[in-house]
Amino acid sequence: MNININNNFDNVSENYLFSEINKRIKKYKEEHKDADIIRLGIGDVTLPLGQKVVDALIEASKEMGNKDTFRGYPPEYGYDFTKIAVKNYYETNKVNLDLESIFISDGAKSDLGNIVDIFGDNPIYIPNPVYPVYLDSNLMSGRKINYIEGYEANNFLPMPNDIKDNNCIIYLCSPNNPTGATYTYNELDKWVKFALESNSLIIYDSAYEAFIKDNLHPHSIYEIEGAKECAIEICSFSKQAGFTGLRSGWTIVPLELESKNHSINKLWKRRQATKFNGVSYPVQRAAEAALSKDGIKECMDNIDYYMENAKMLSNLFDEKGIYYTGGKSSPYIWFKCPNGMNSWEFFDYLLENVNVVGTPGAGFGTFGEGYFRITSFNTHEKTKEAIDRLRKVL
Ligand code: MLT
Repeated sequence: MNININNNFDNVSENYLFSEINKRIKKYKEEHKDADIIRLGIGDVTLPLGQKVVDALIEASKEMGNKDTFRGYPPEYGYDFTKIAVKNYYETNKVNLDLESIFISDGAKSDLGNIVDIFGDNPIYIPNPVYPVYLDSNLMSGRKINYIEGYEANNFLPMPNDIKDNNCIIYLCSPNNPTGATYTYNELDKWVKFALESNSLIIYDSAYEAFIKDNLHPHSIYEIEGAKECAIEICSFSKQAGFTGLRSGWTIVPLELESKNHSINKLWKRRQATKFNGVSYPVQRAAEAALSKDGIKECMDNIDYYMENAKMLSNLFDEKGIYYTGGKSSPYIWFKCPNGMNSWEFFDYLLENVNVVGTPGAGFGTFGEGYFRITSFNTHEKTKEAIDRLRKVL
């Protein structure tokens, strides 16, 4: 073949972070067939779906098997019943959303990766460390990236102080993946003010908002005054309702967002109508159920379970006096690798010595080098066992 390929792919790492981790685990398992590996790596849930969600899936599947209630293509932007469920969910945080601003997706990752389609060349600002999708998708589109740096002195919560550009696209993730660090109302207010003053757009990833249990940290950027004029918010049912295998999320593109006489909402509609055929009816009924009163209660029970794991893991780092963030409004614990090891060295060290898998901080950006992320998504039993193993090597 002699076709030109997208050379921007030369600028991304050969493997996506979690594919690289799986590759290494597979190789280790081939060489150590009896290894009892405990996975605290990718943030994948282990508890089953709540009963309300399961009931909704069954009921909707039955409807699909009946000629009177069968449905074909779903609306590209989501059924009204799912959008209304999202709208009502936001109202619990006193955020009033226009139904037209809500887009039901097959998960936050897709929309976070696809949103680049609707923008031209702008200064891009991405936290470092952060979820790798923002960086990779912008690199694949040939964008030049600037970093907003997270480190211990700013508690891994970069602020806009050093940004000199105007008209930027800024990615923020709070509670942050991977550090678990979470912006307060006051800090997020500074970001919104900065975006409004500099004519910039914030792409706000709130996939872990359901883990916030206090009144100090906003669940949505739209709790901040002015955010509808400068922010898109992308969220997920994955961690909140255990949909990692079911796939659904939502994106809010406010009608107020306009640039150079273009409605951003209309651009996203146009993009989705061309490249996306919507989320299946049973999954949208399941999503609706997850956001019902009883559904939320079931989801919160699961989140409380994971947060008990987070507490047990945090206690270990407190006991050892090791620096960490997260574990409070987040299922992730982010800590400094011991003995000056780099992140991948520590990954191999843990895998080989105690058969525990985590995620190397360097996979989330250069400022993650020397740090490591573990999740609280495993069972209590496996988490306790992992803690006993980690205690021996930390
Ligand atoms: C993670 O472990 O960072 C997440 O599970 C990845 C994702 O949500 O795609």
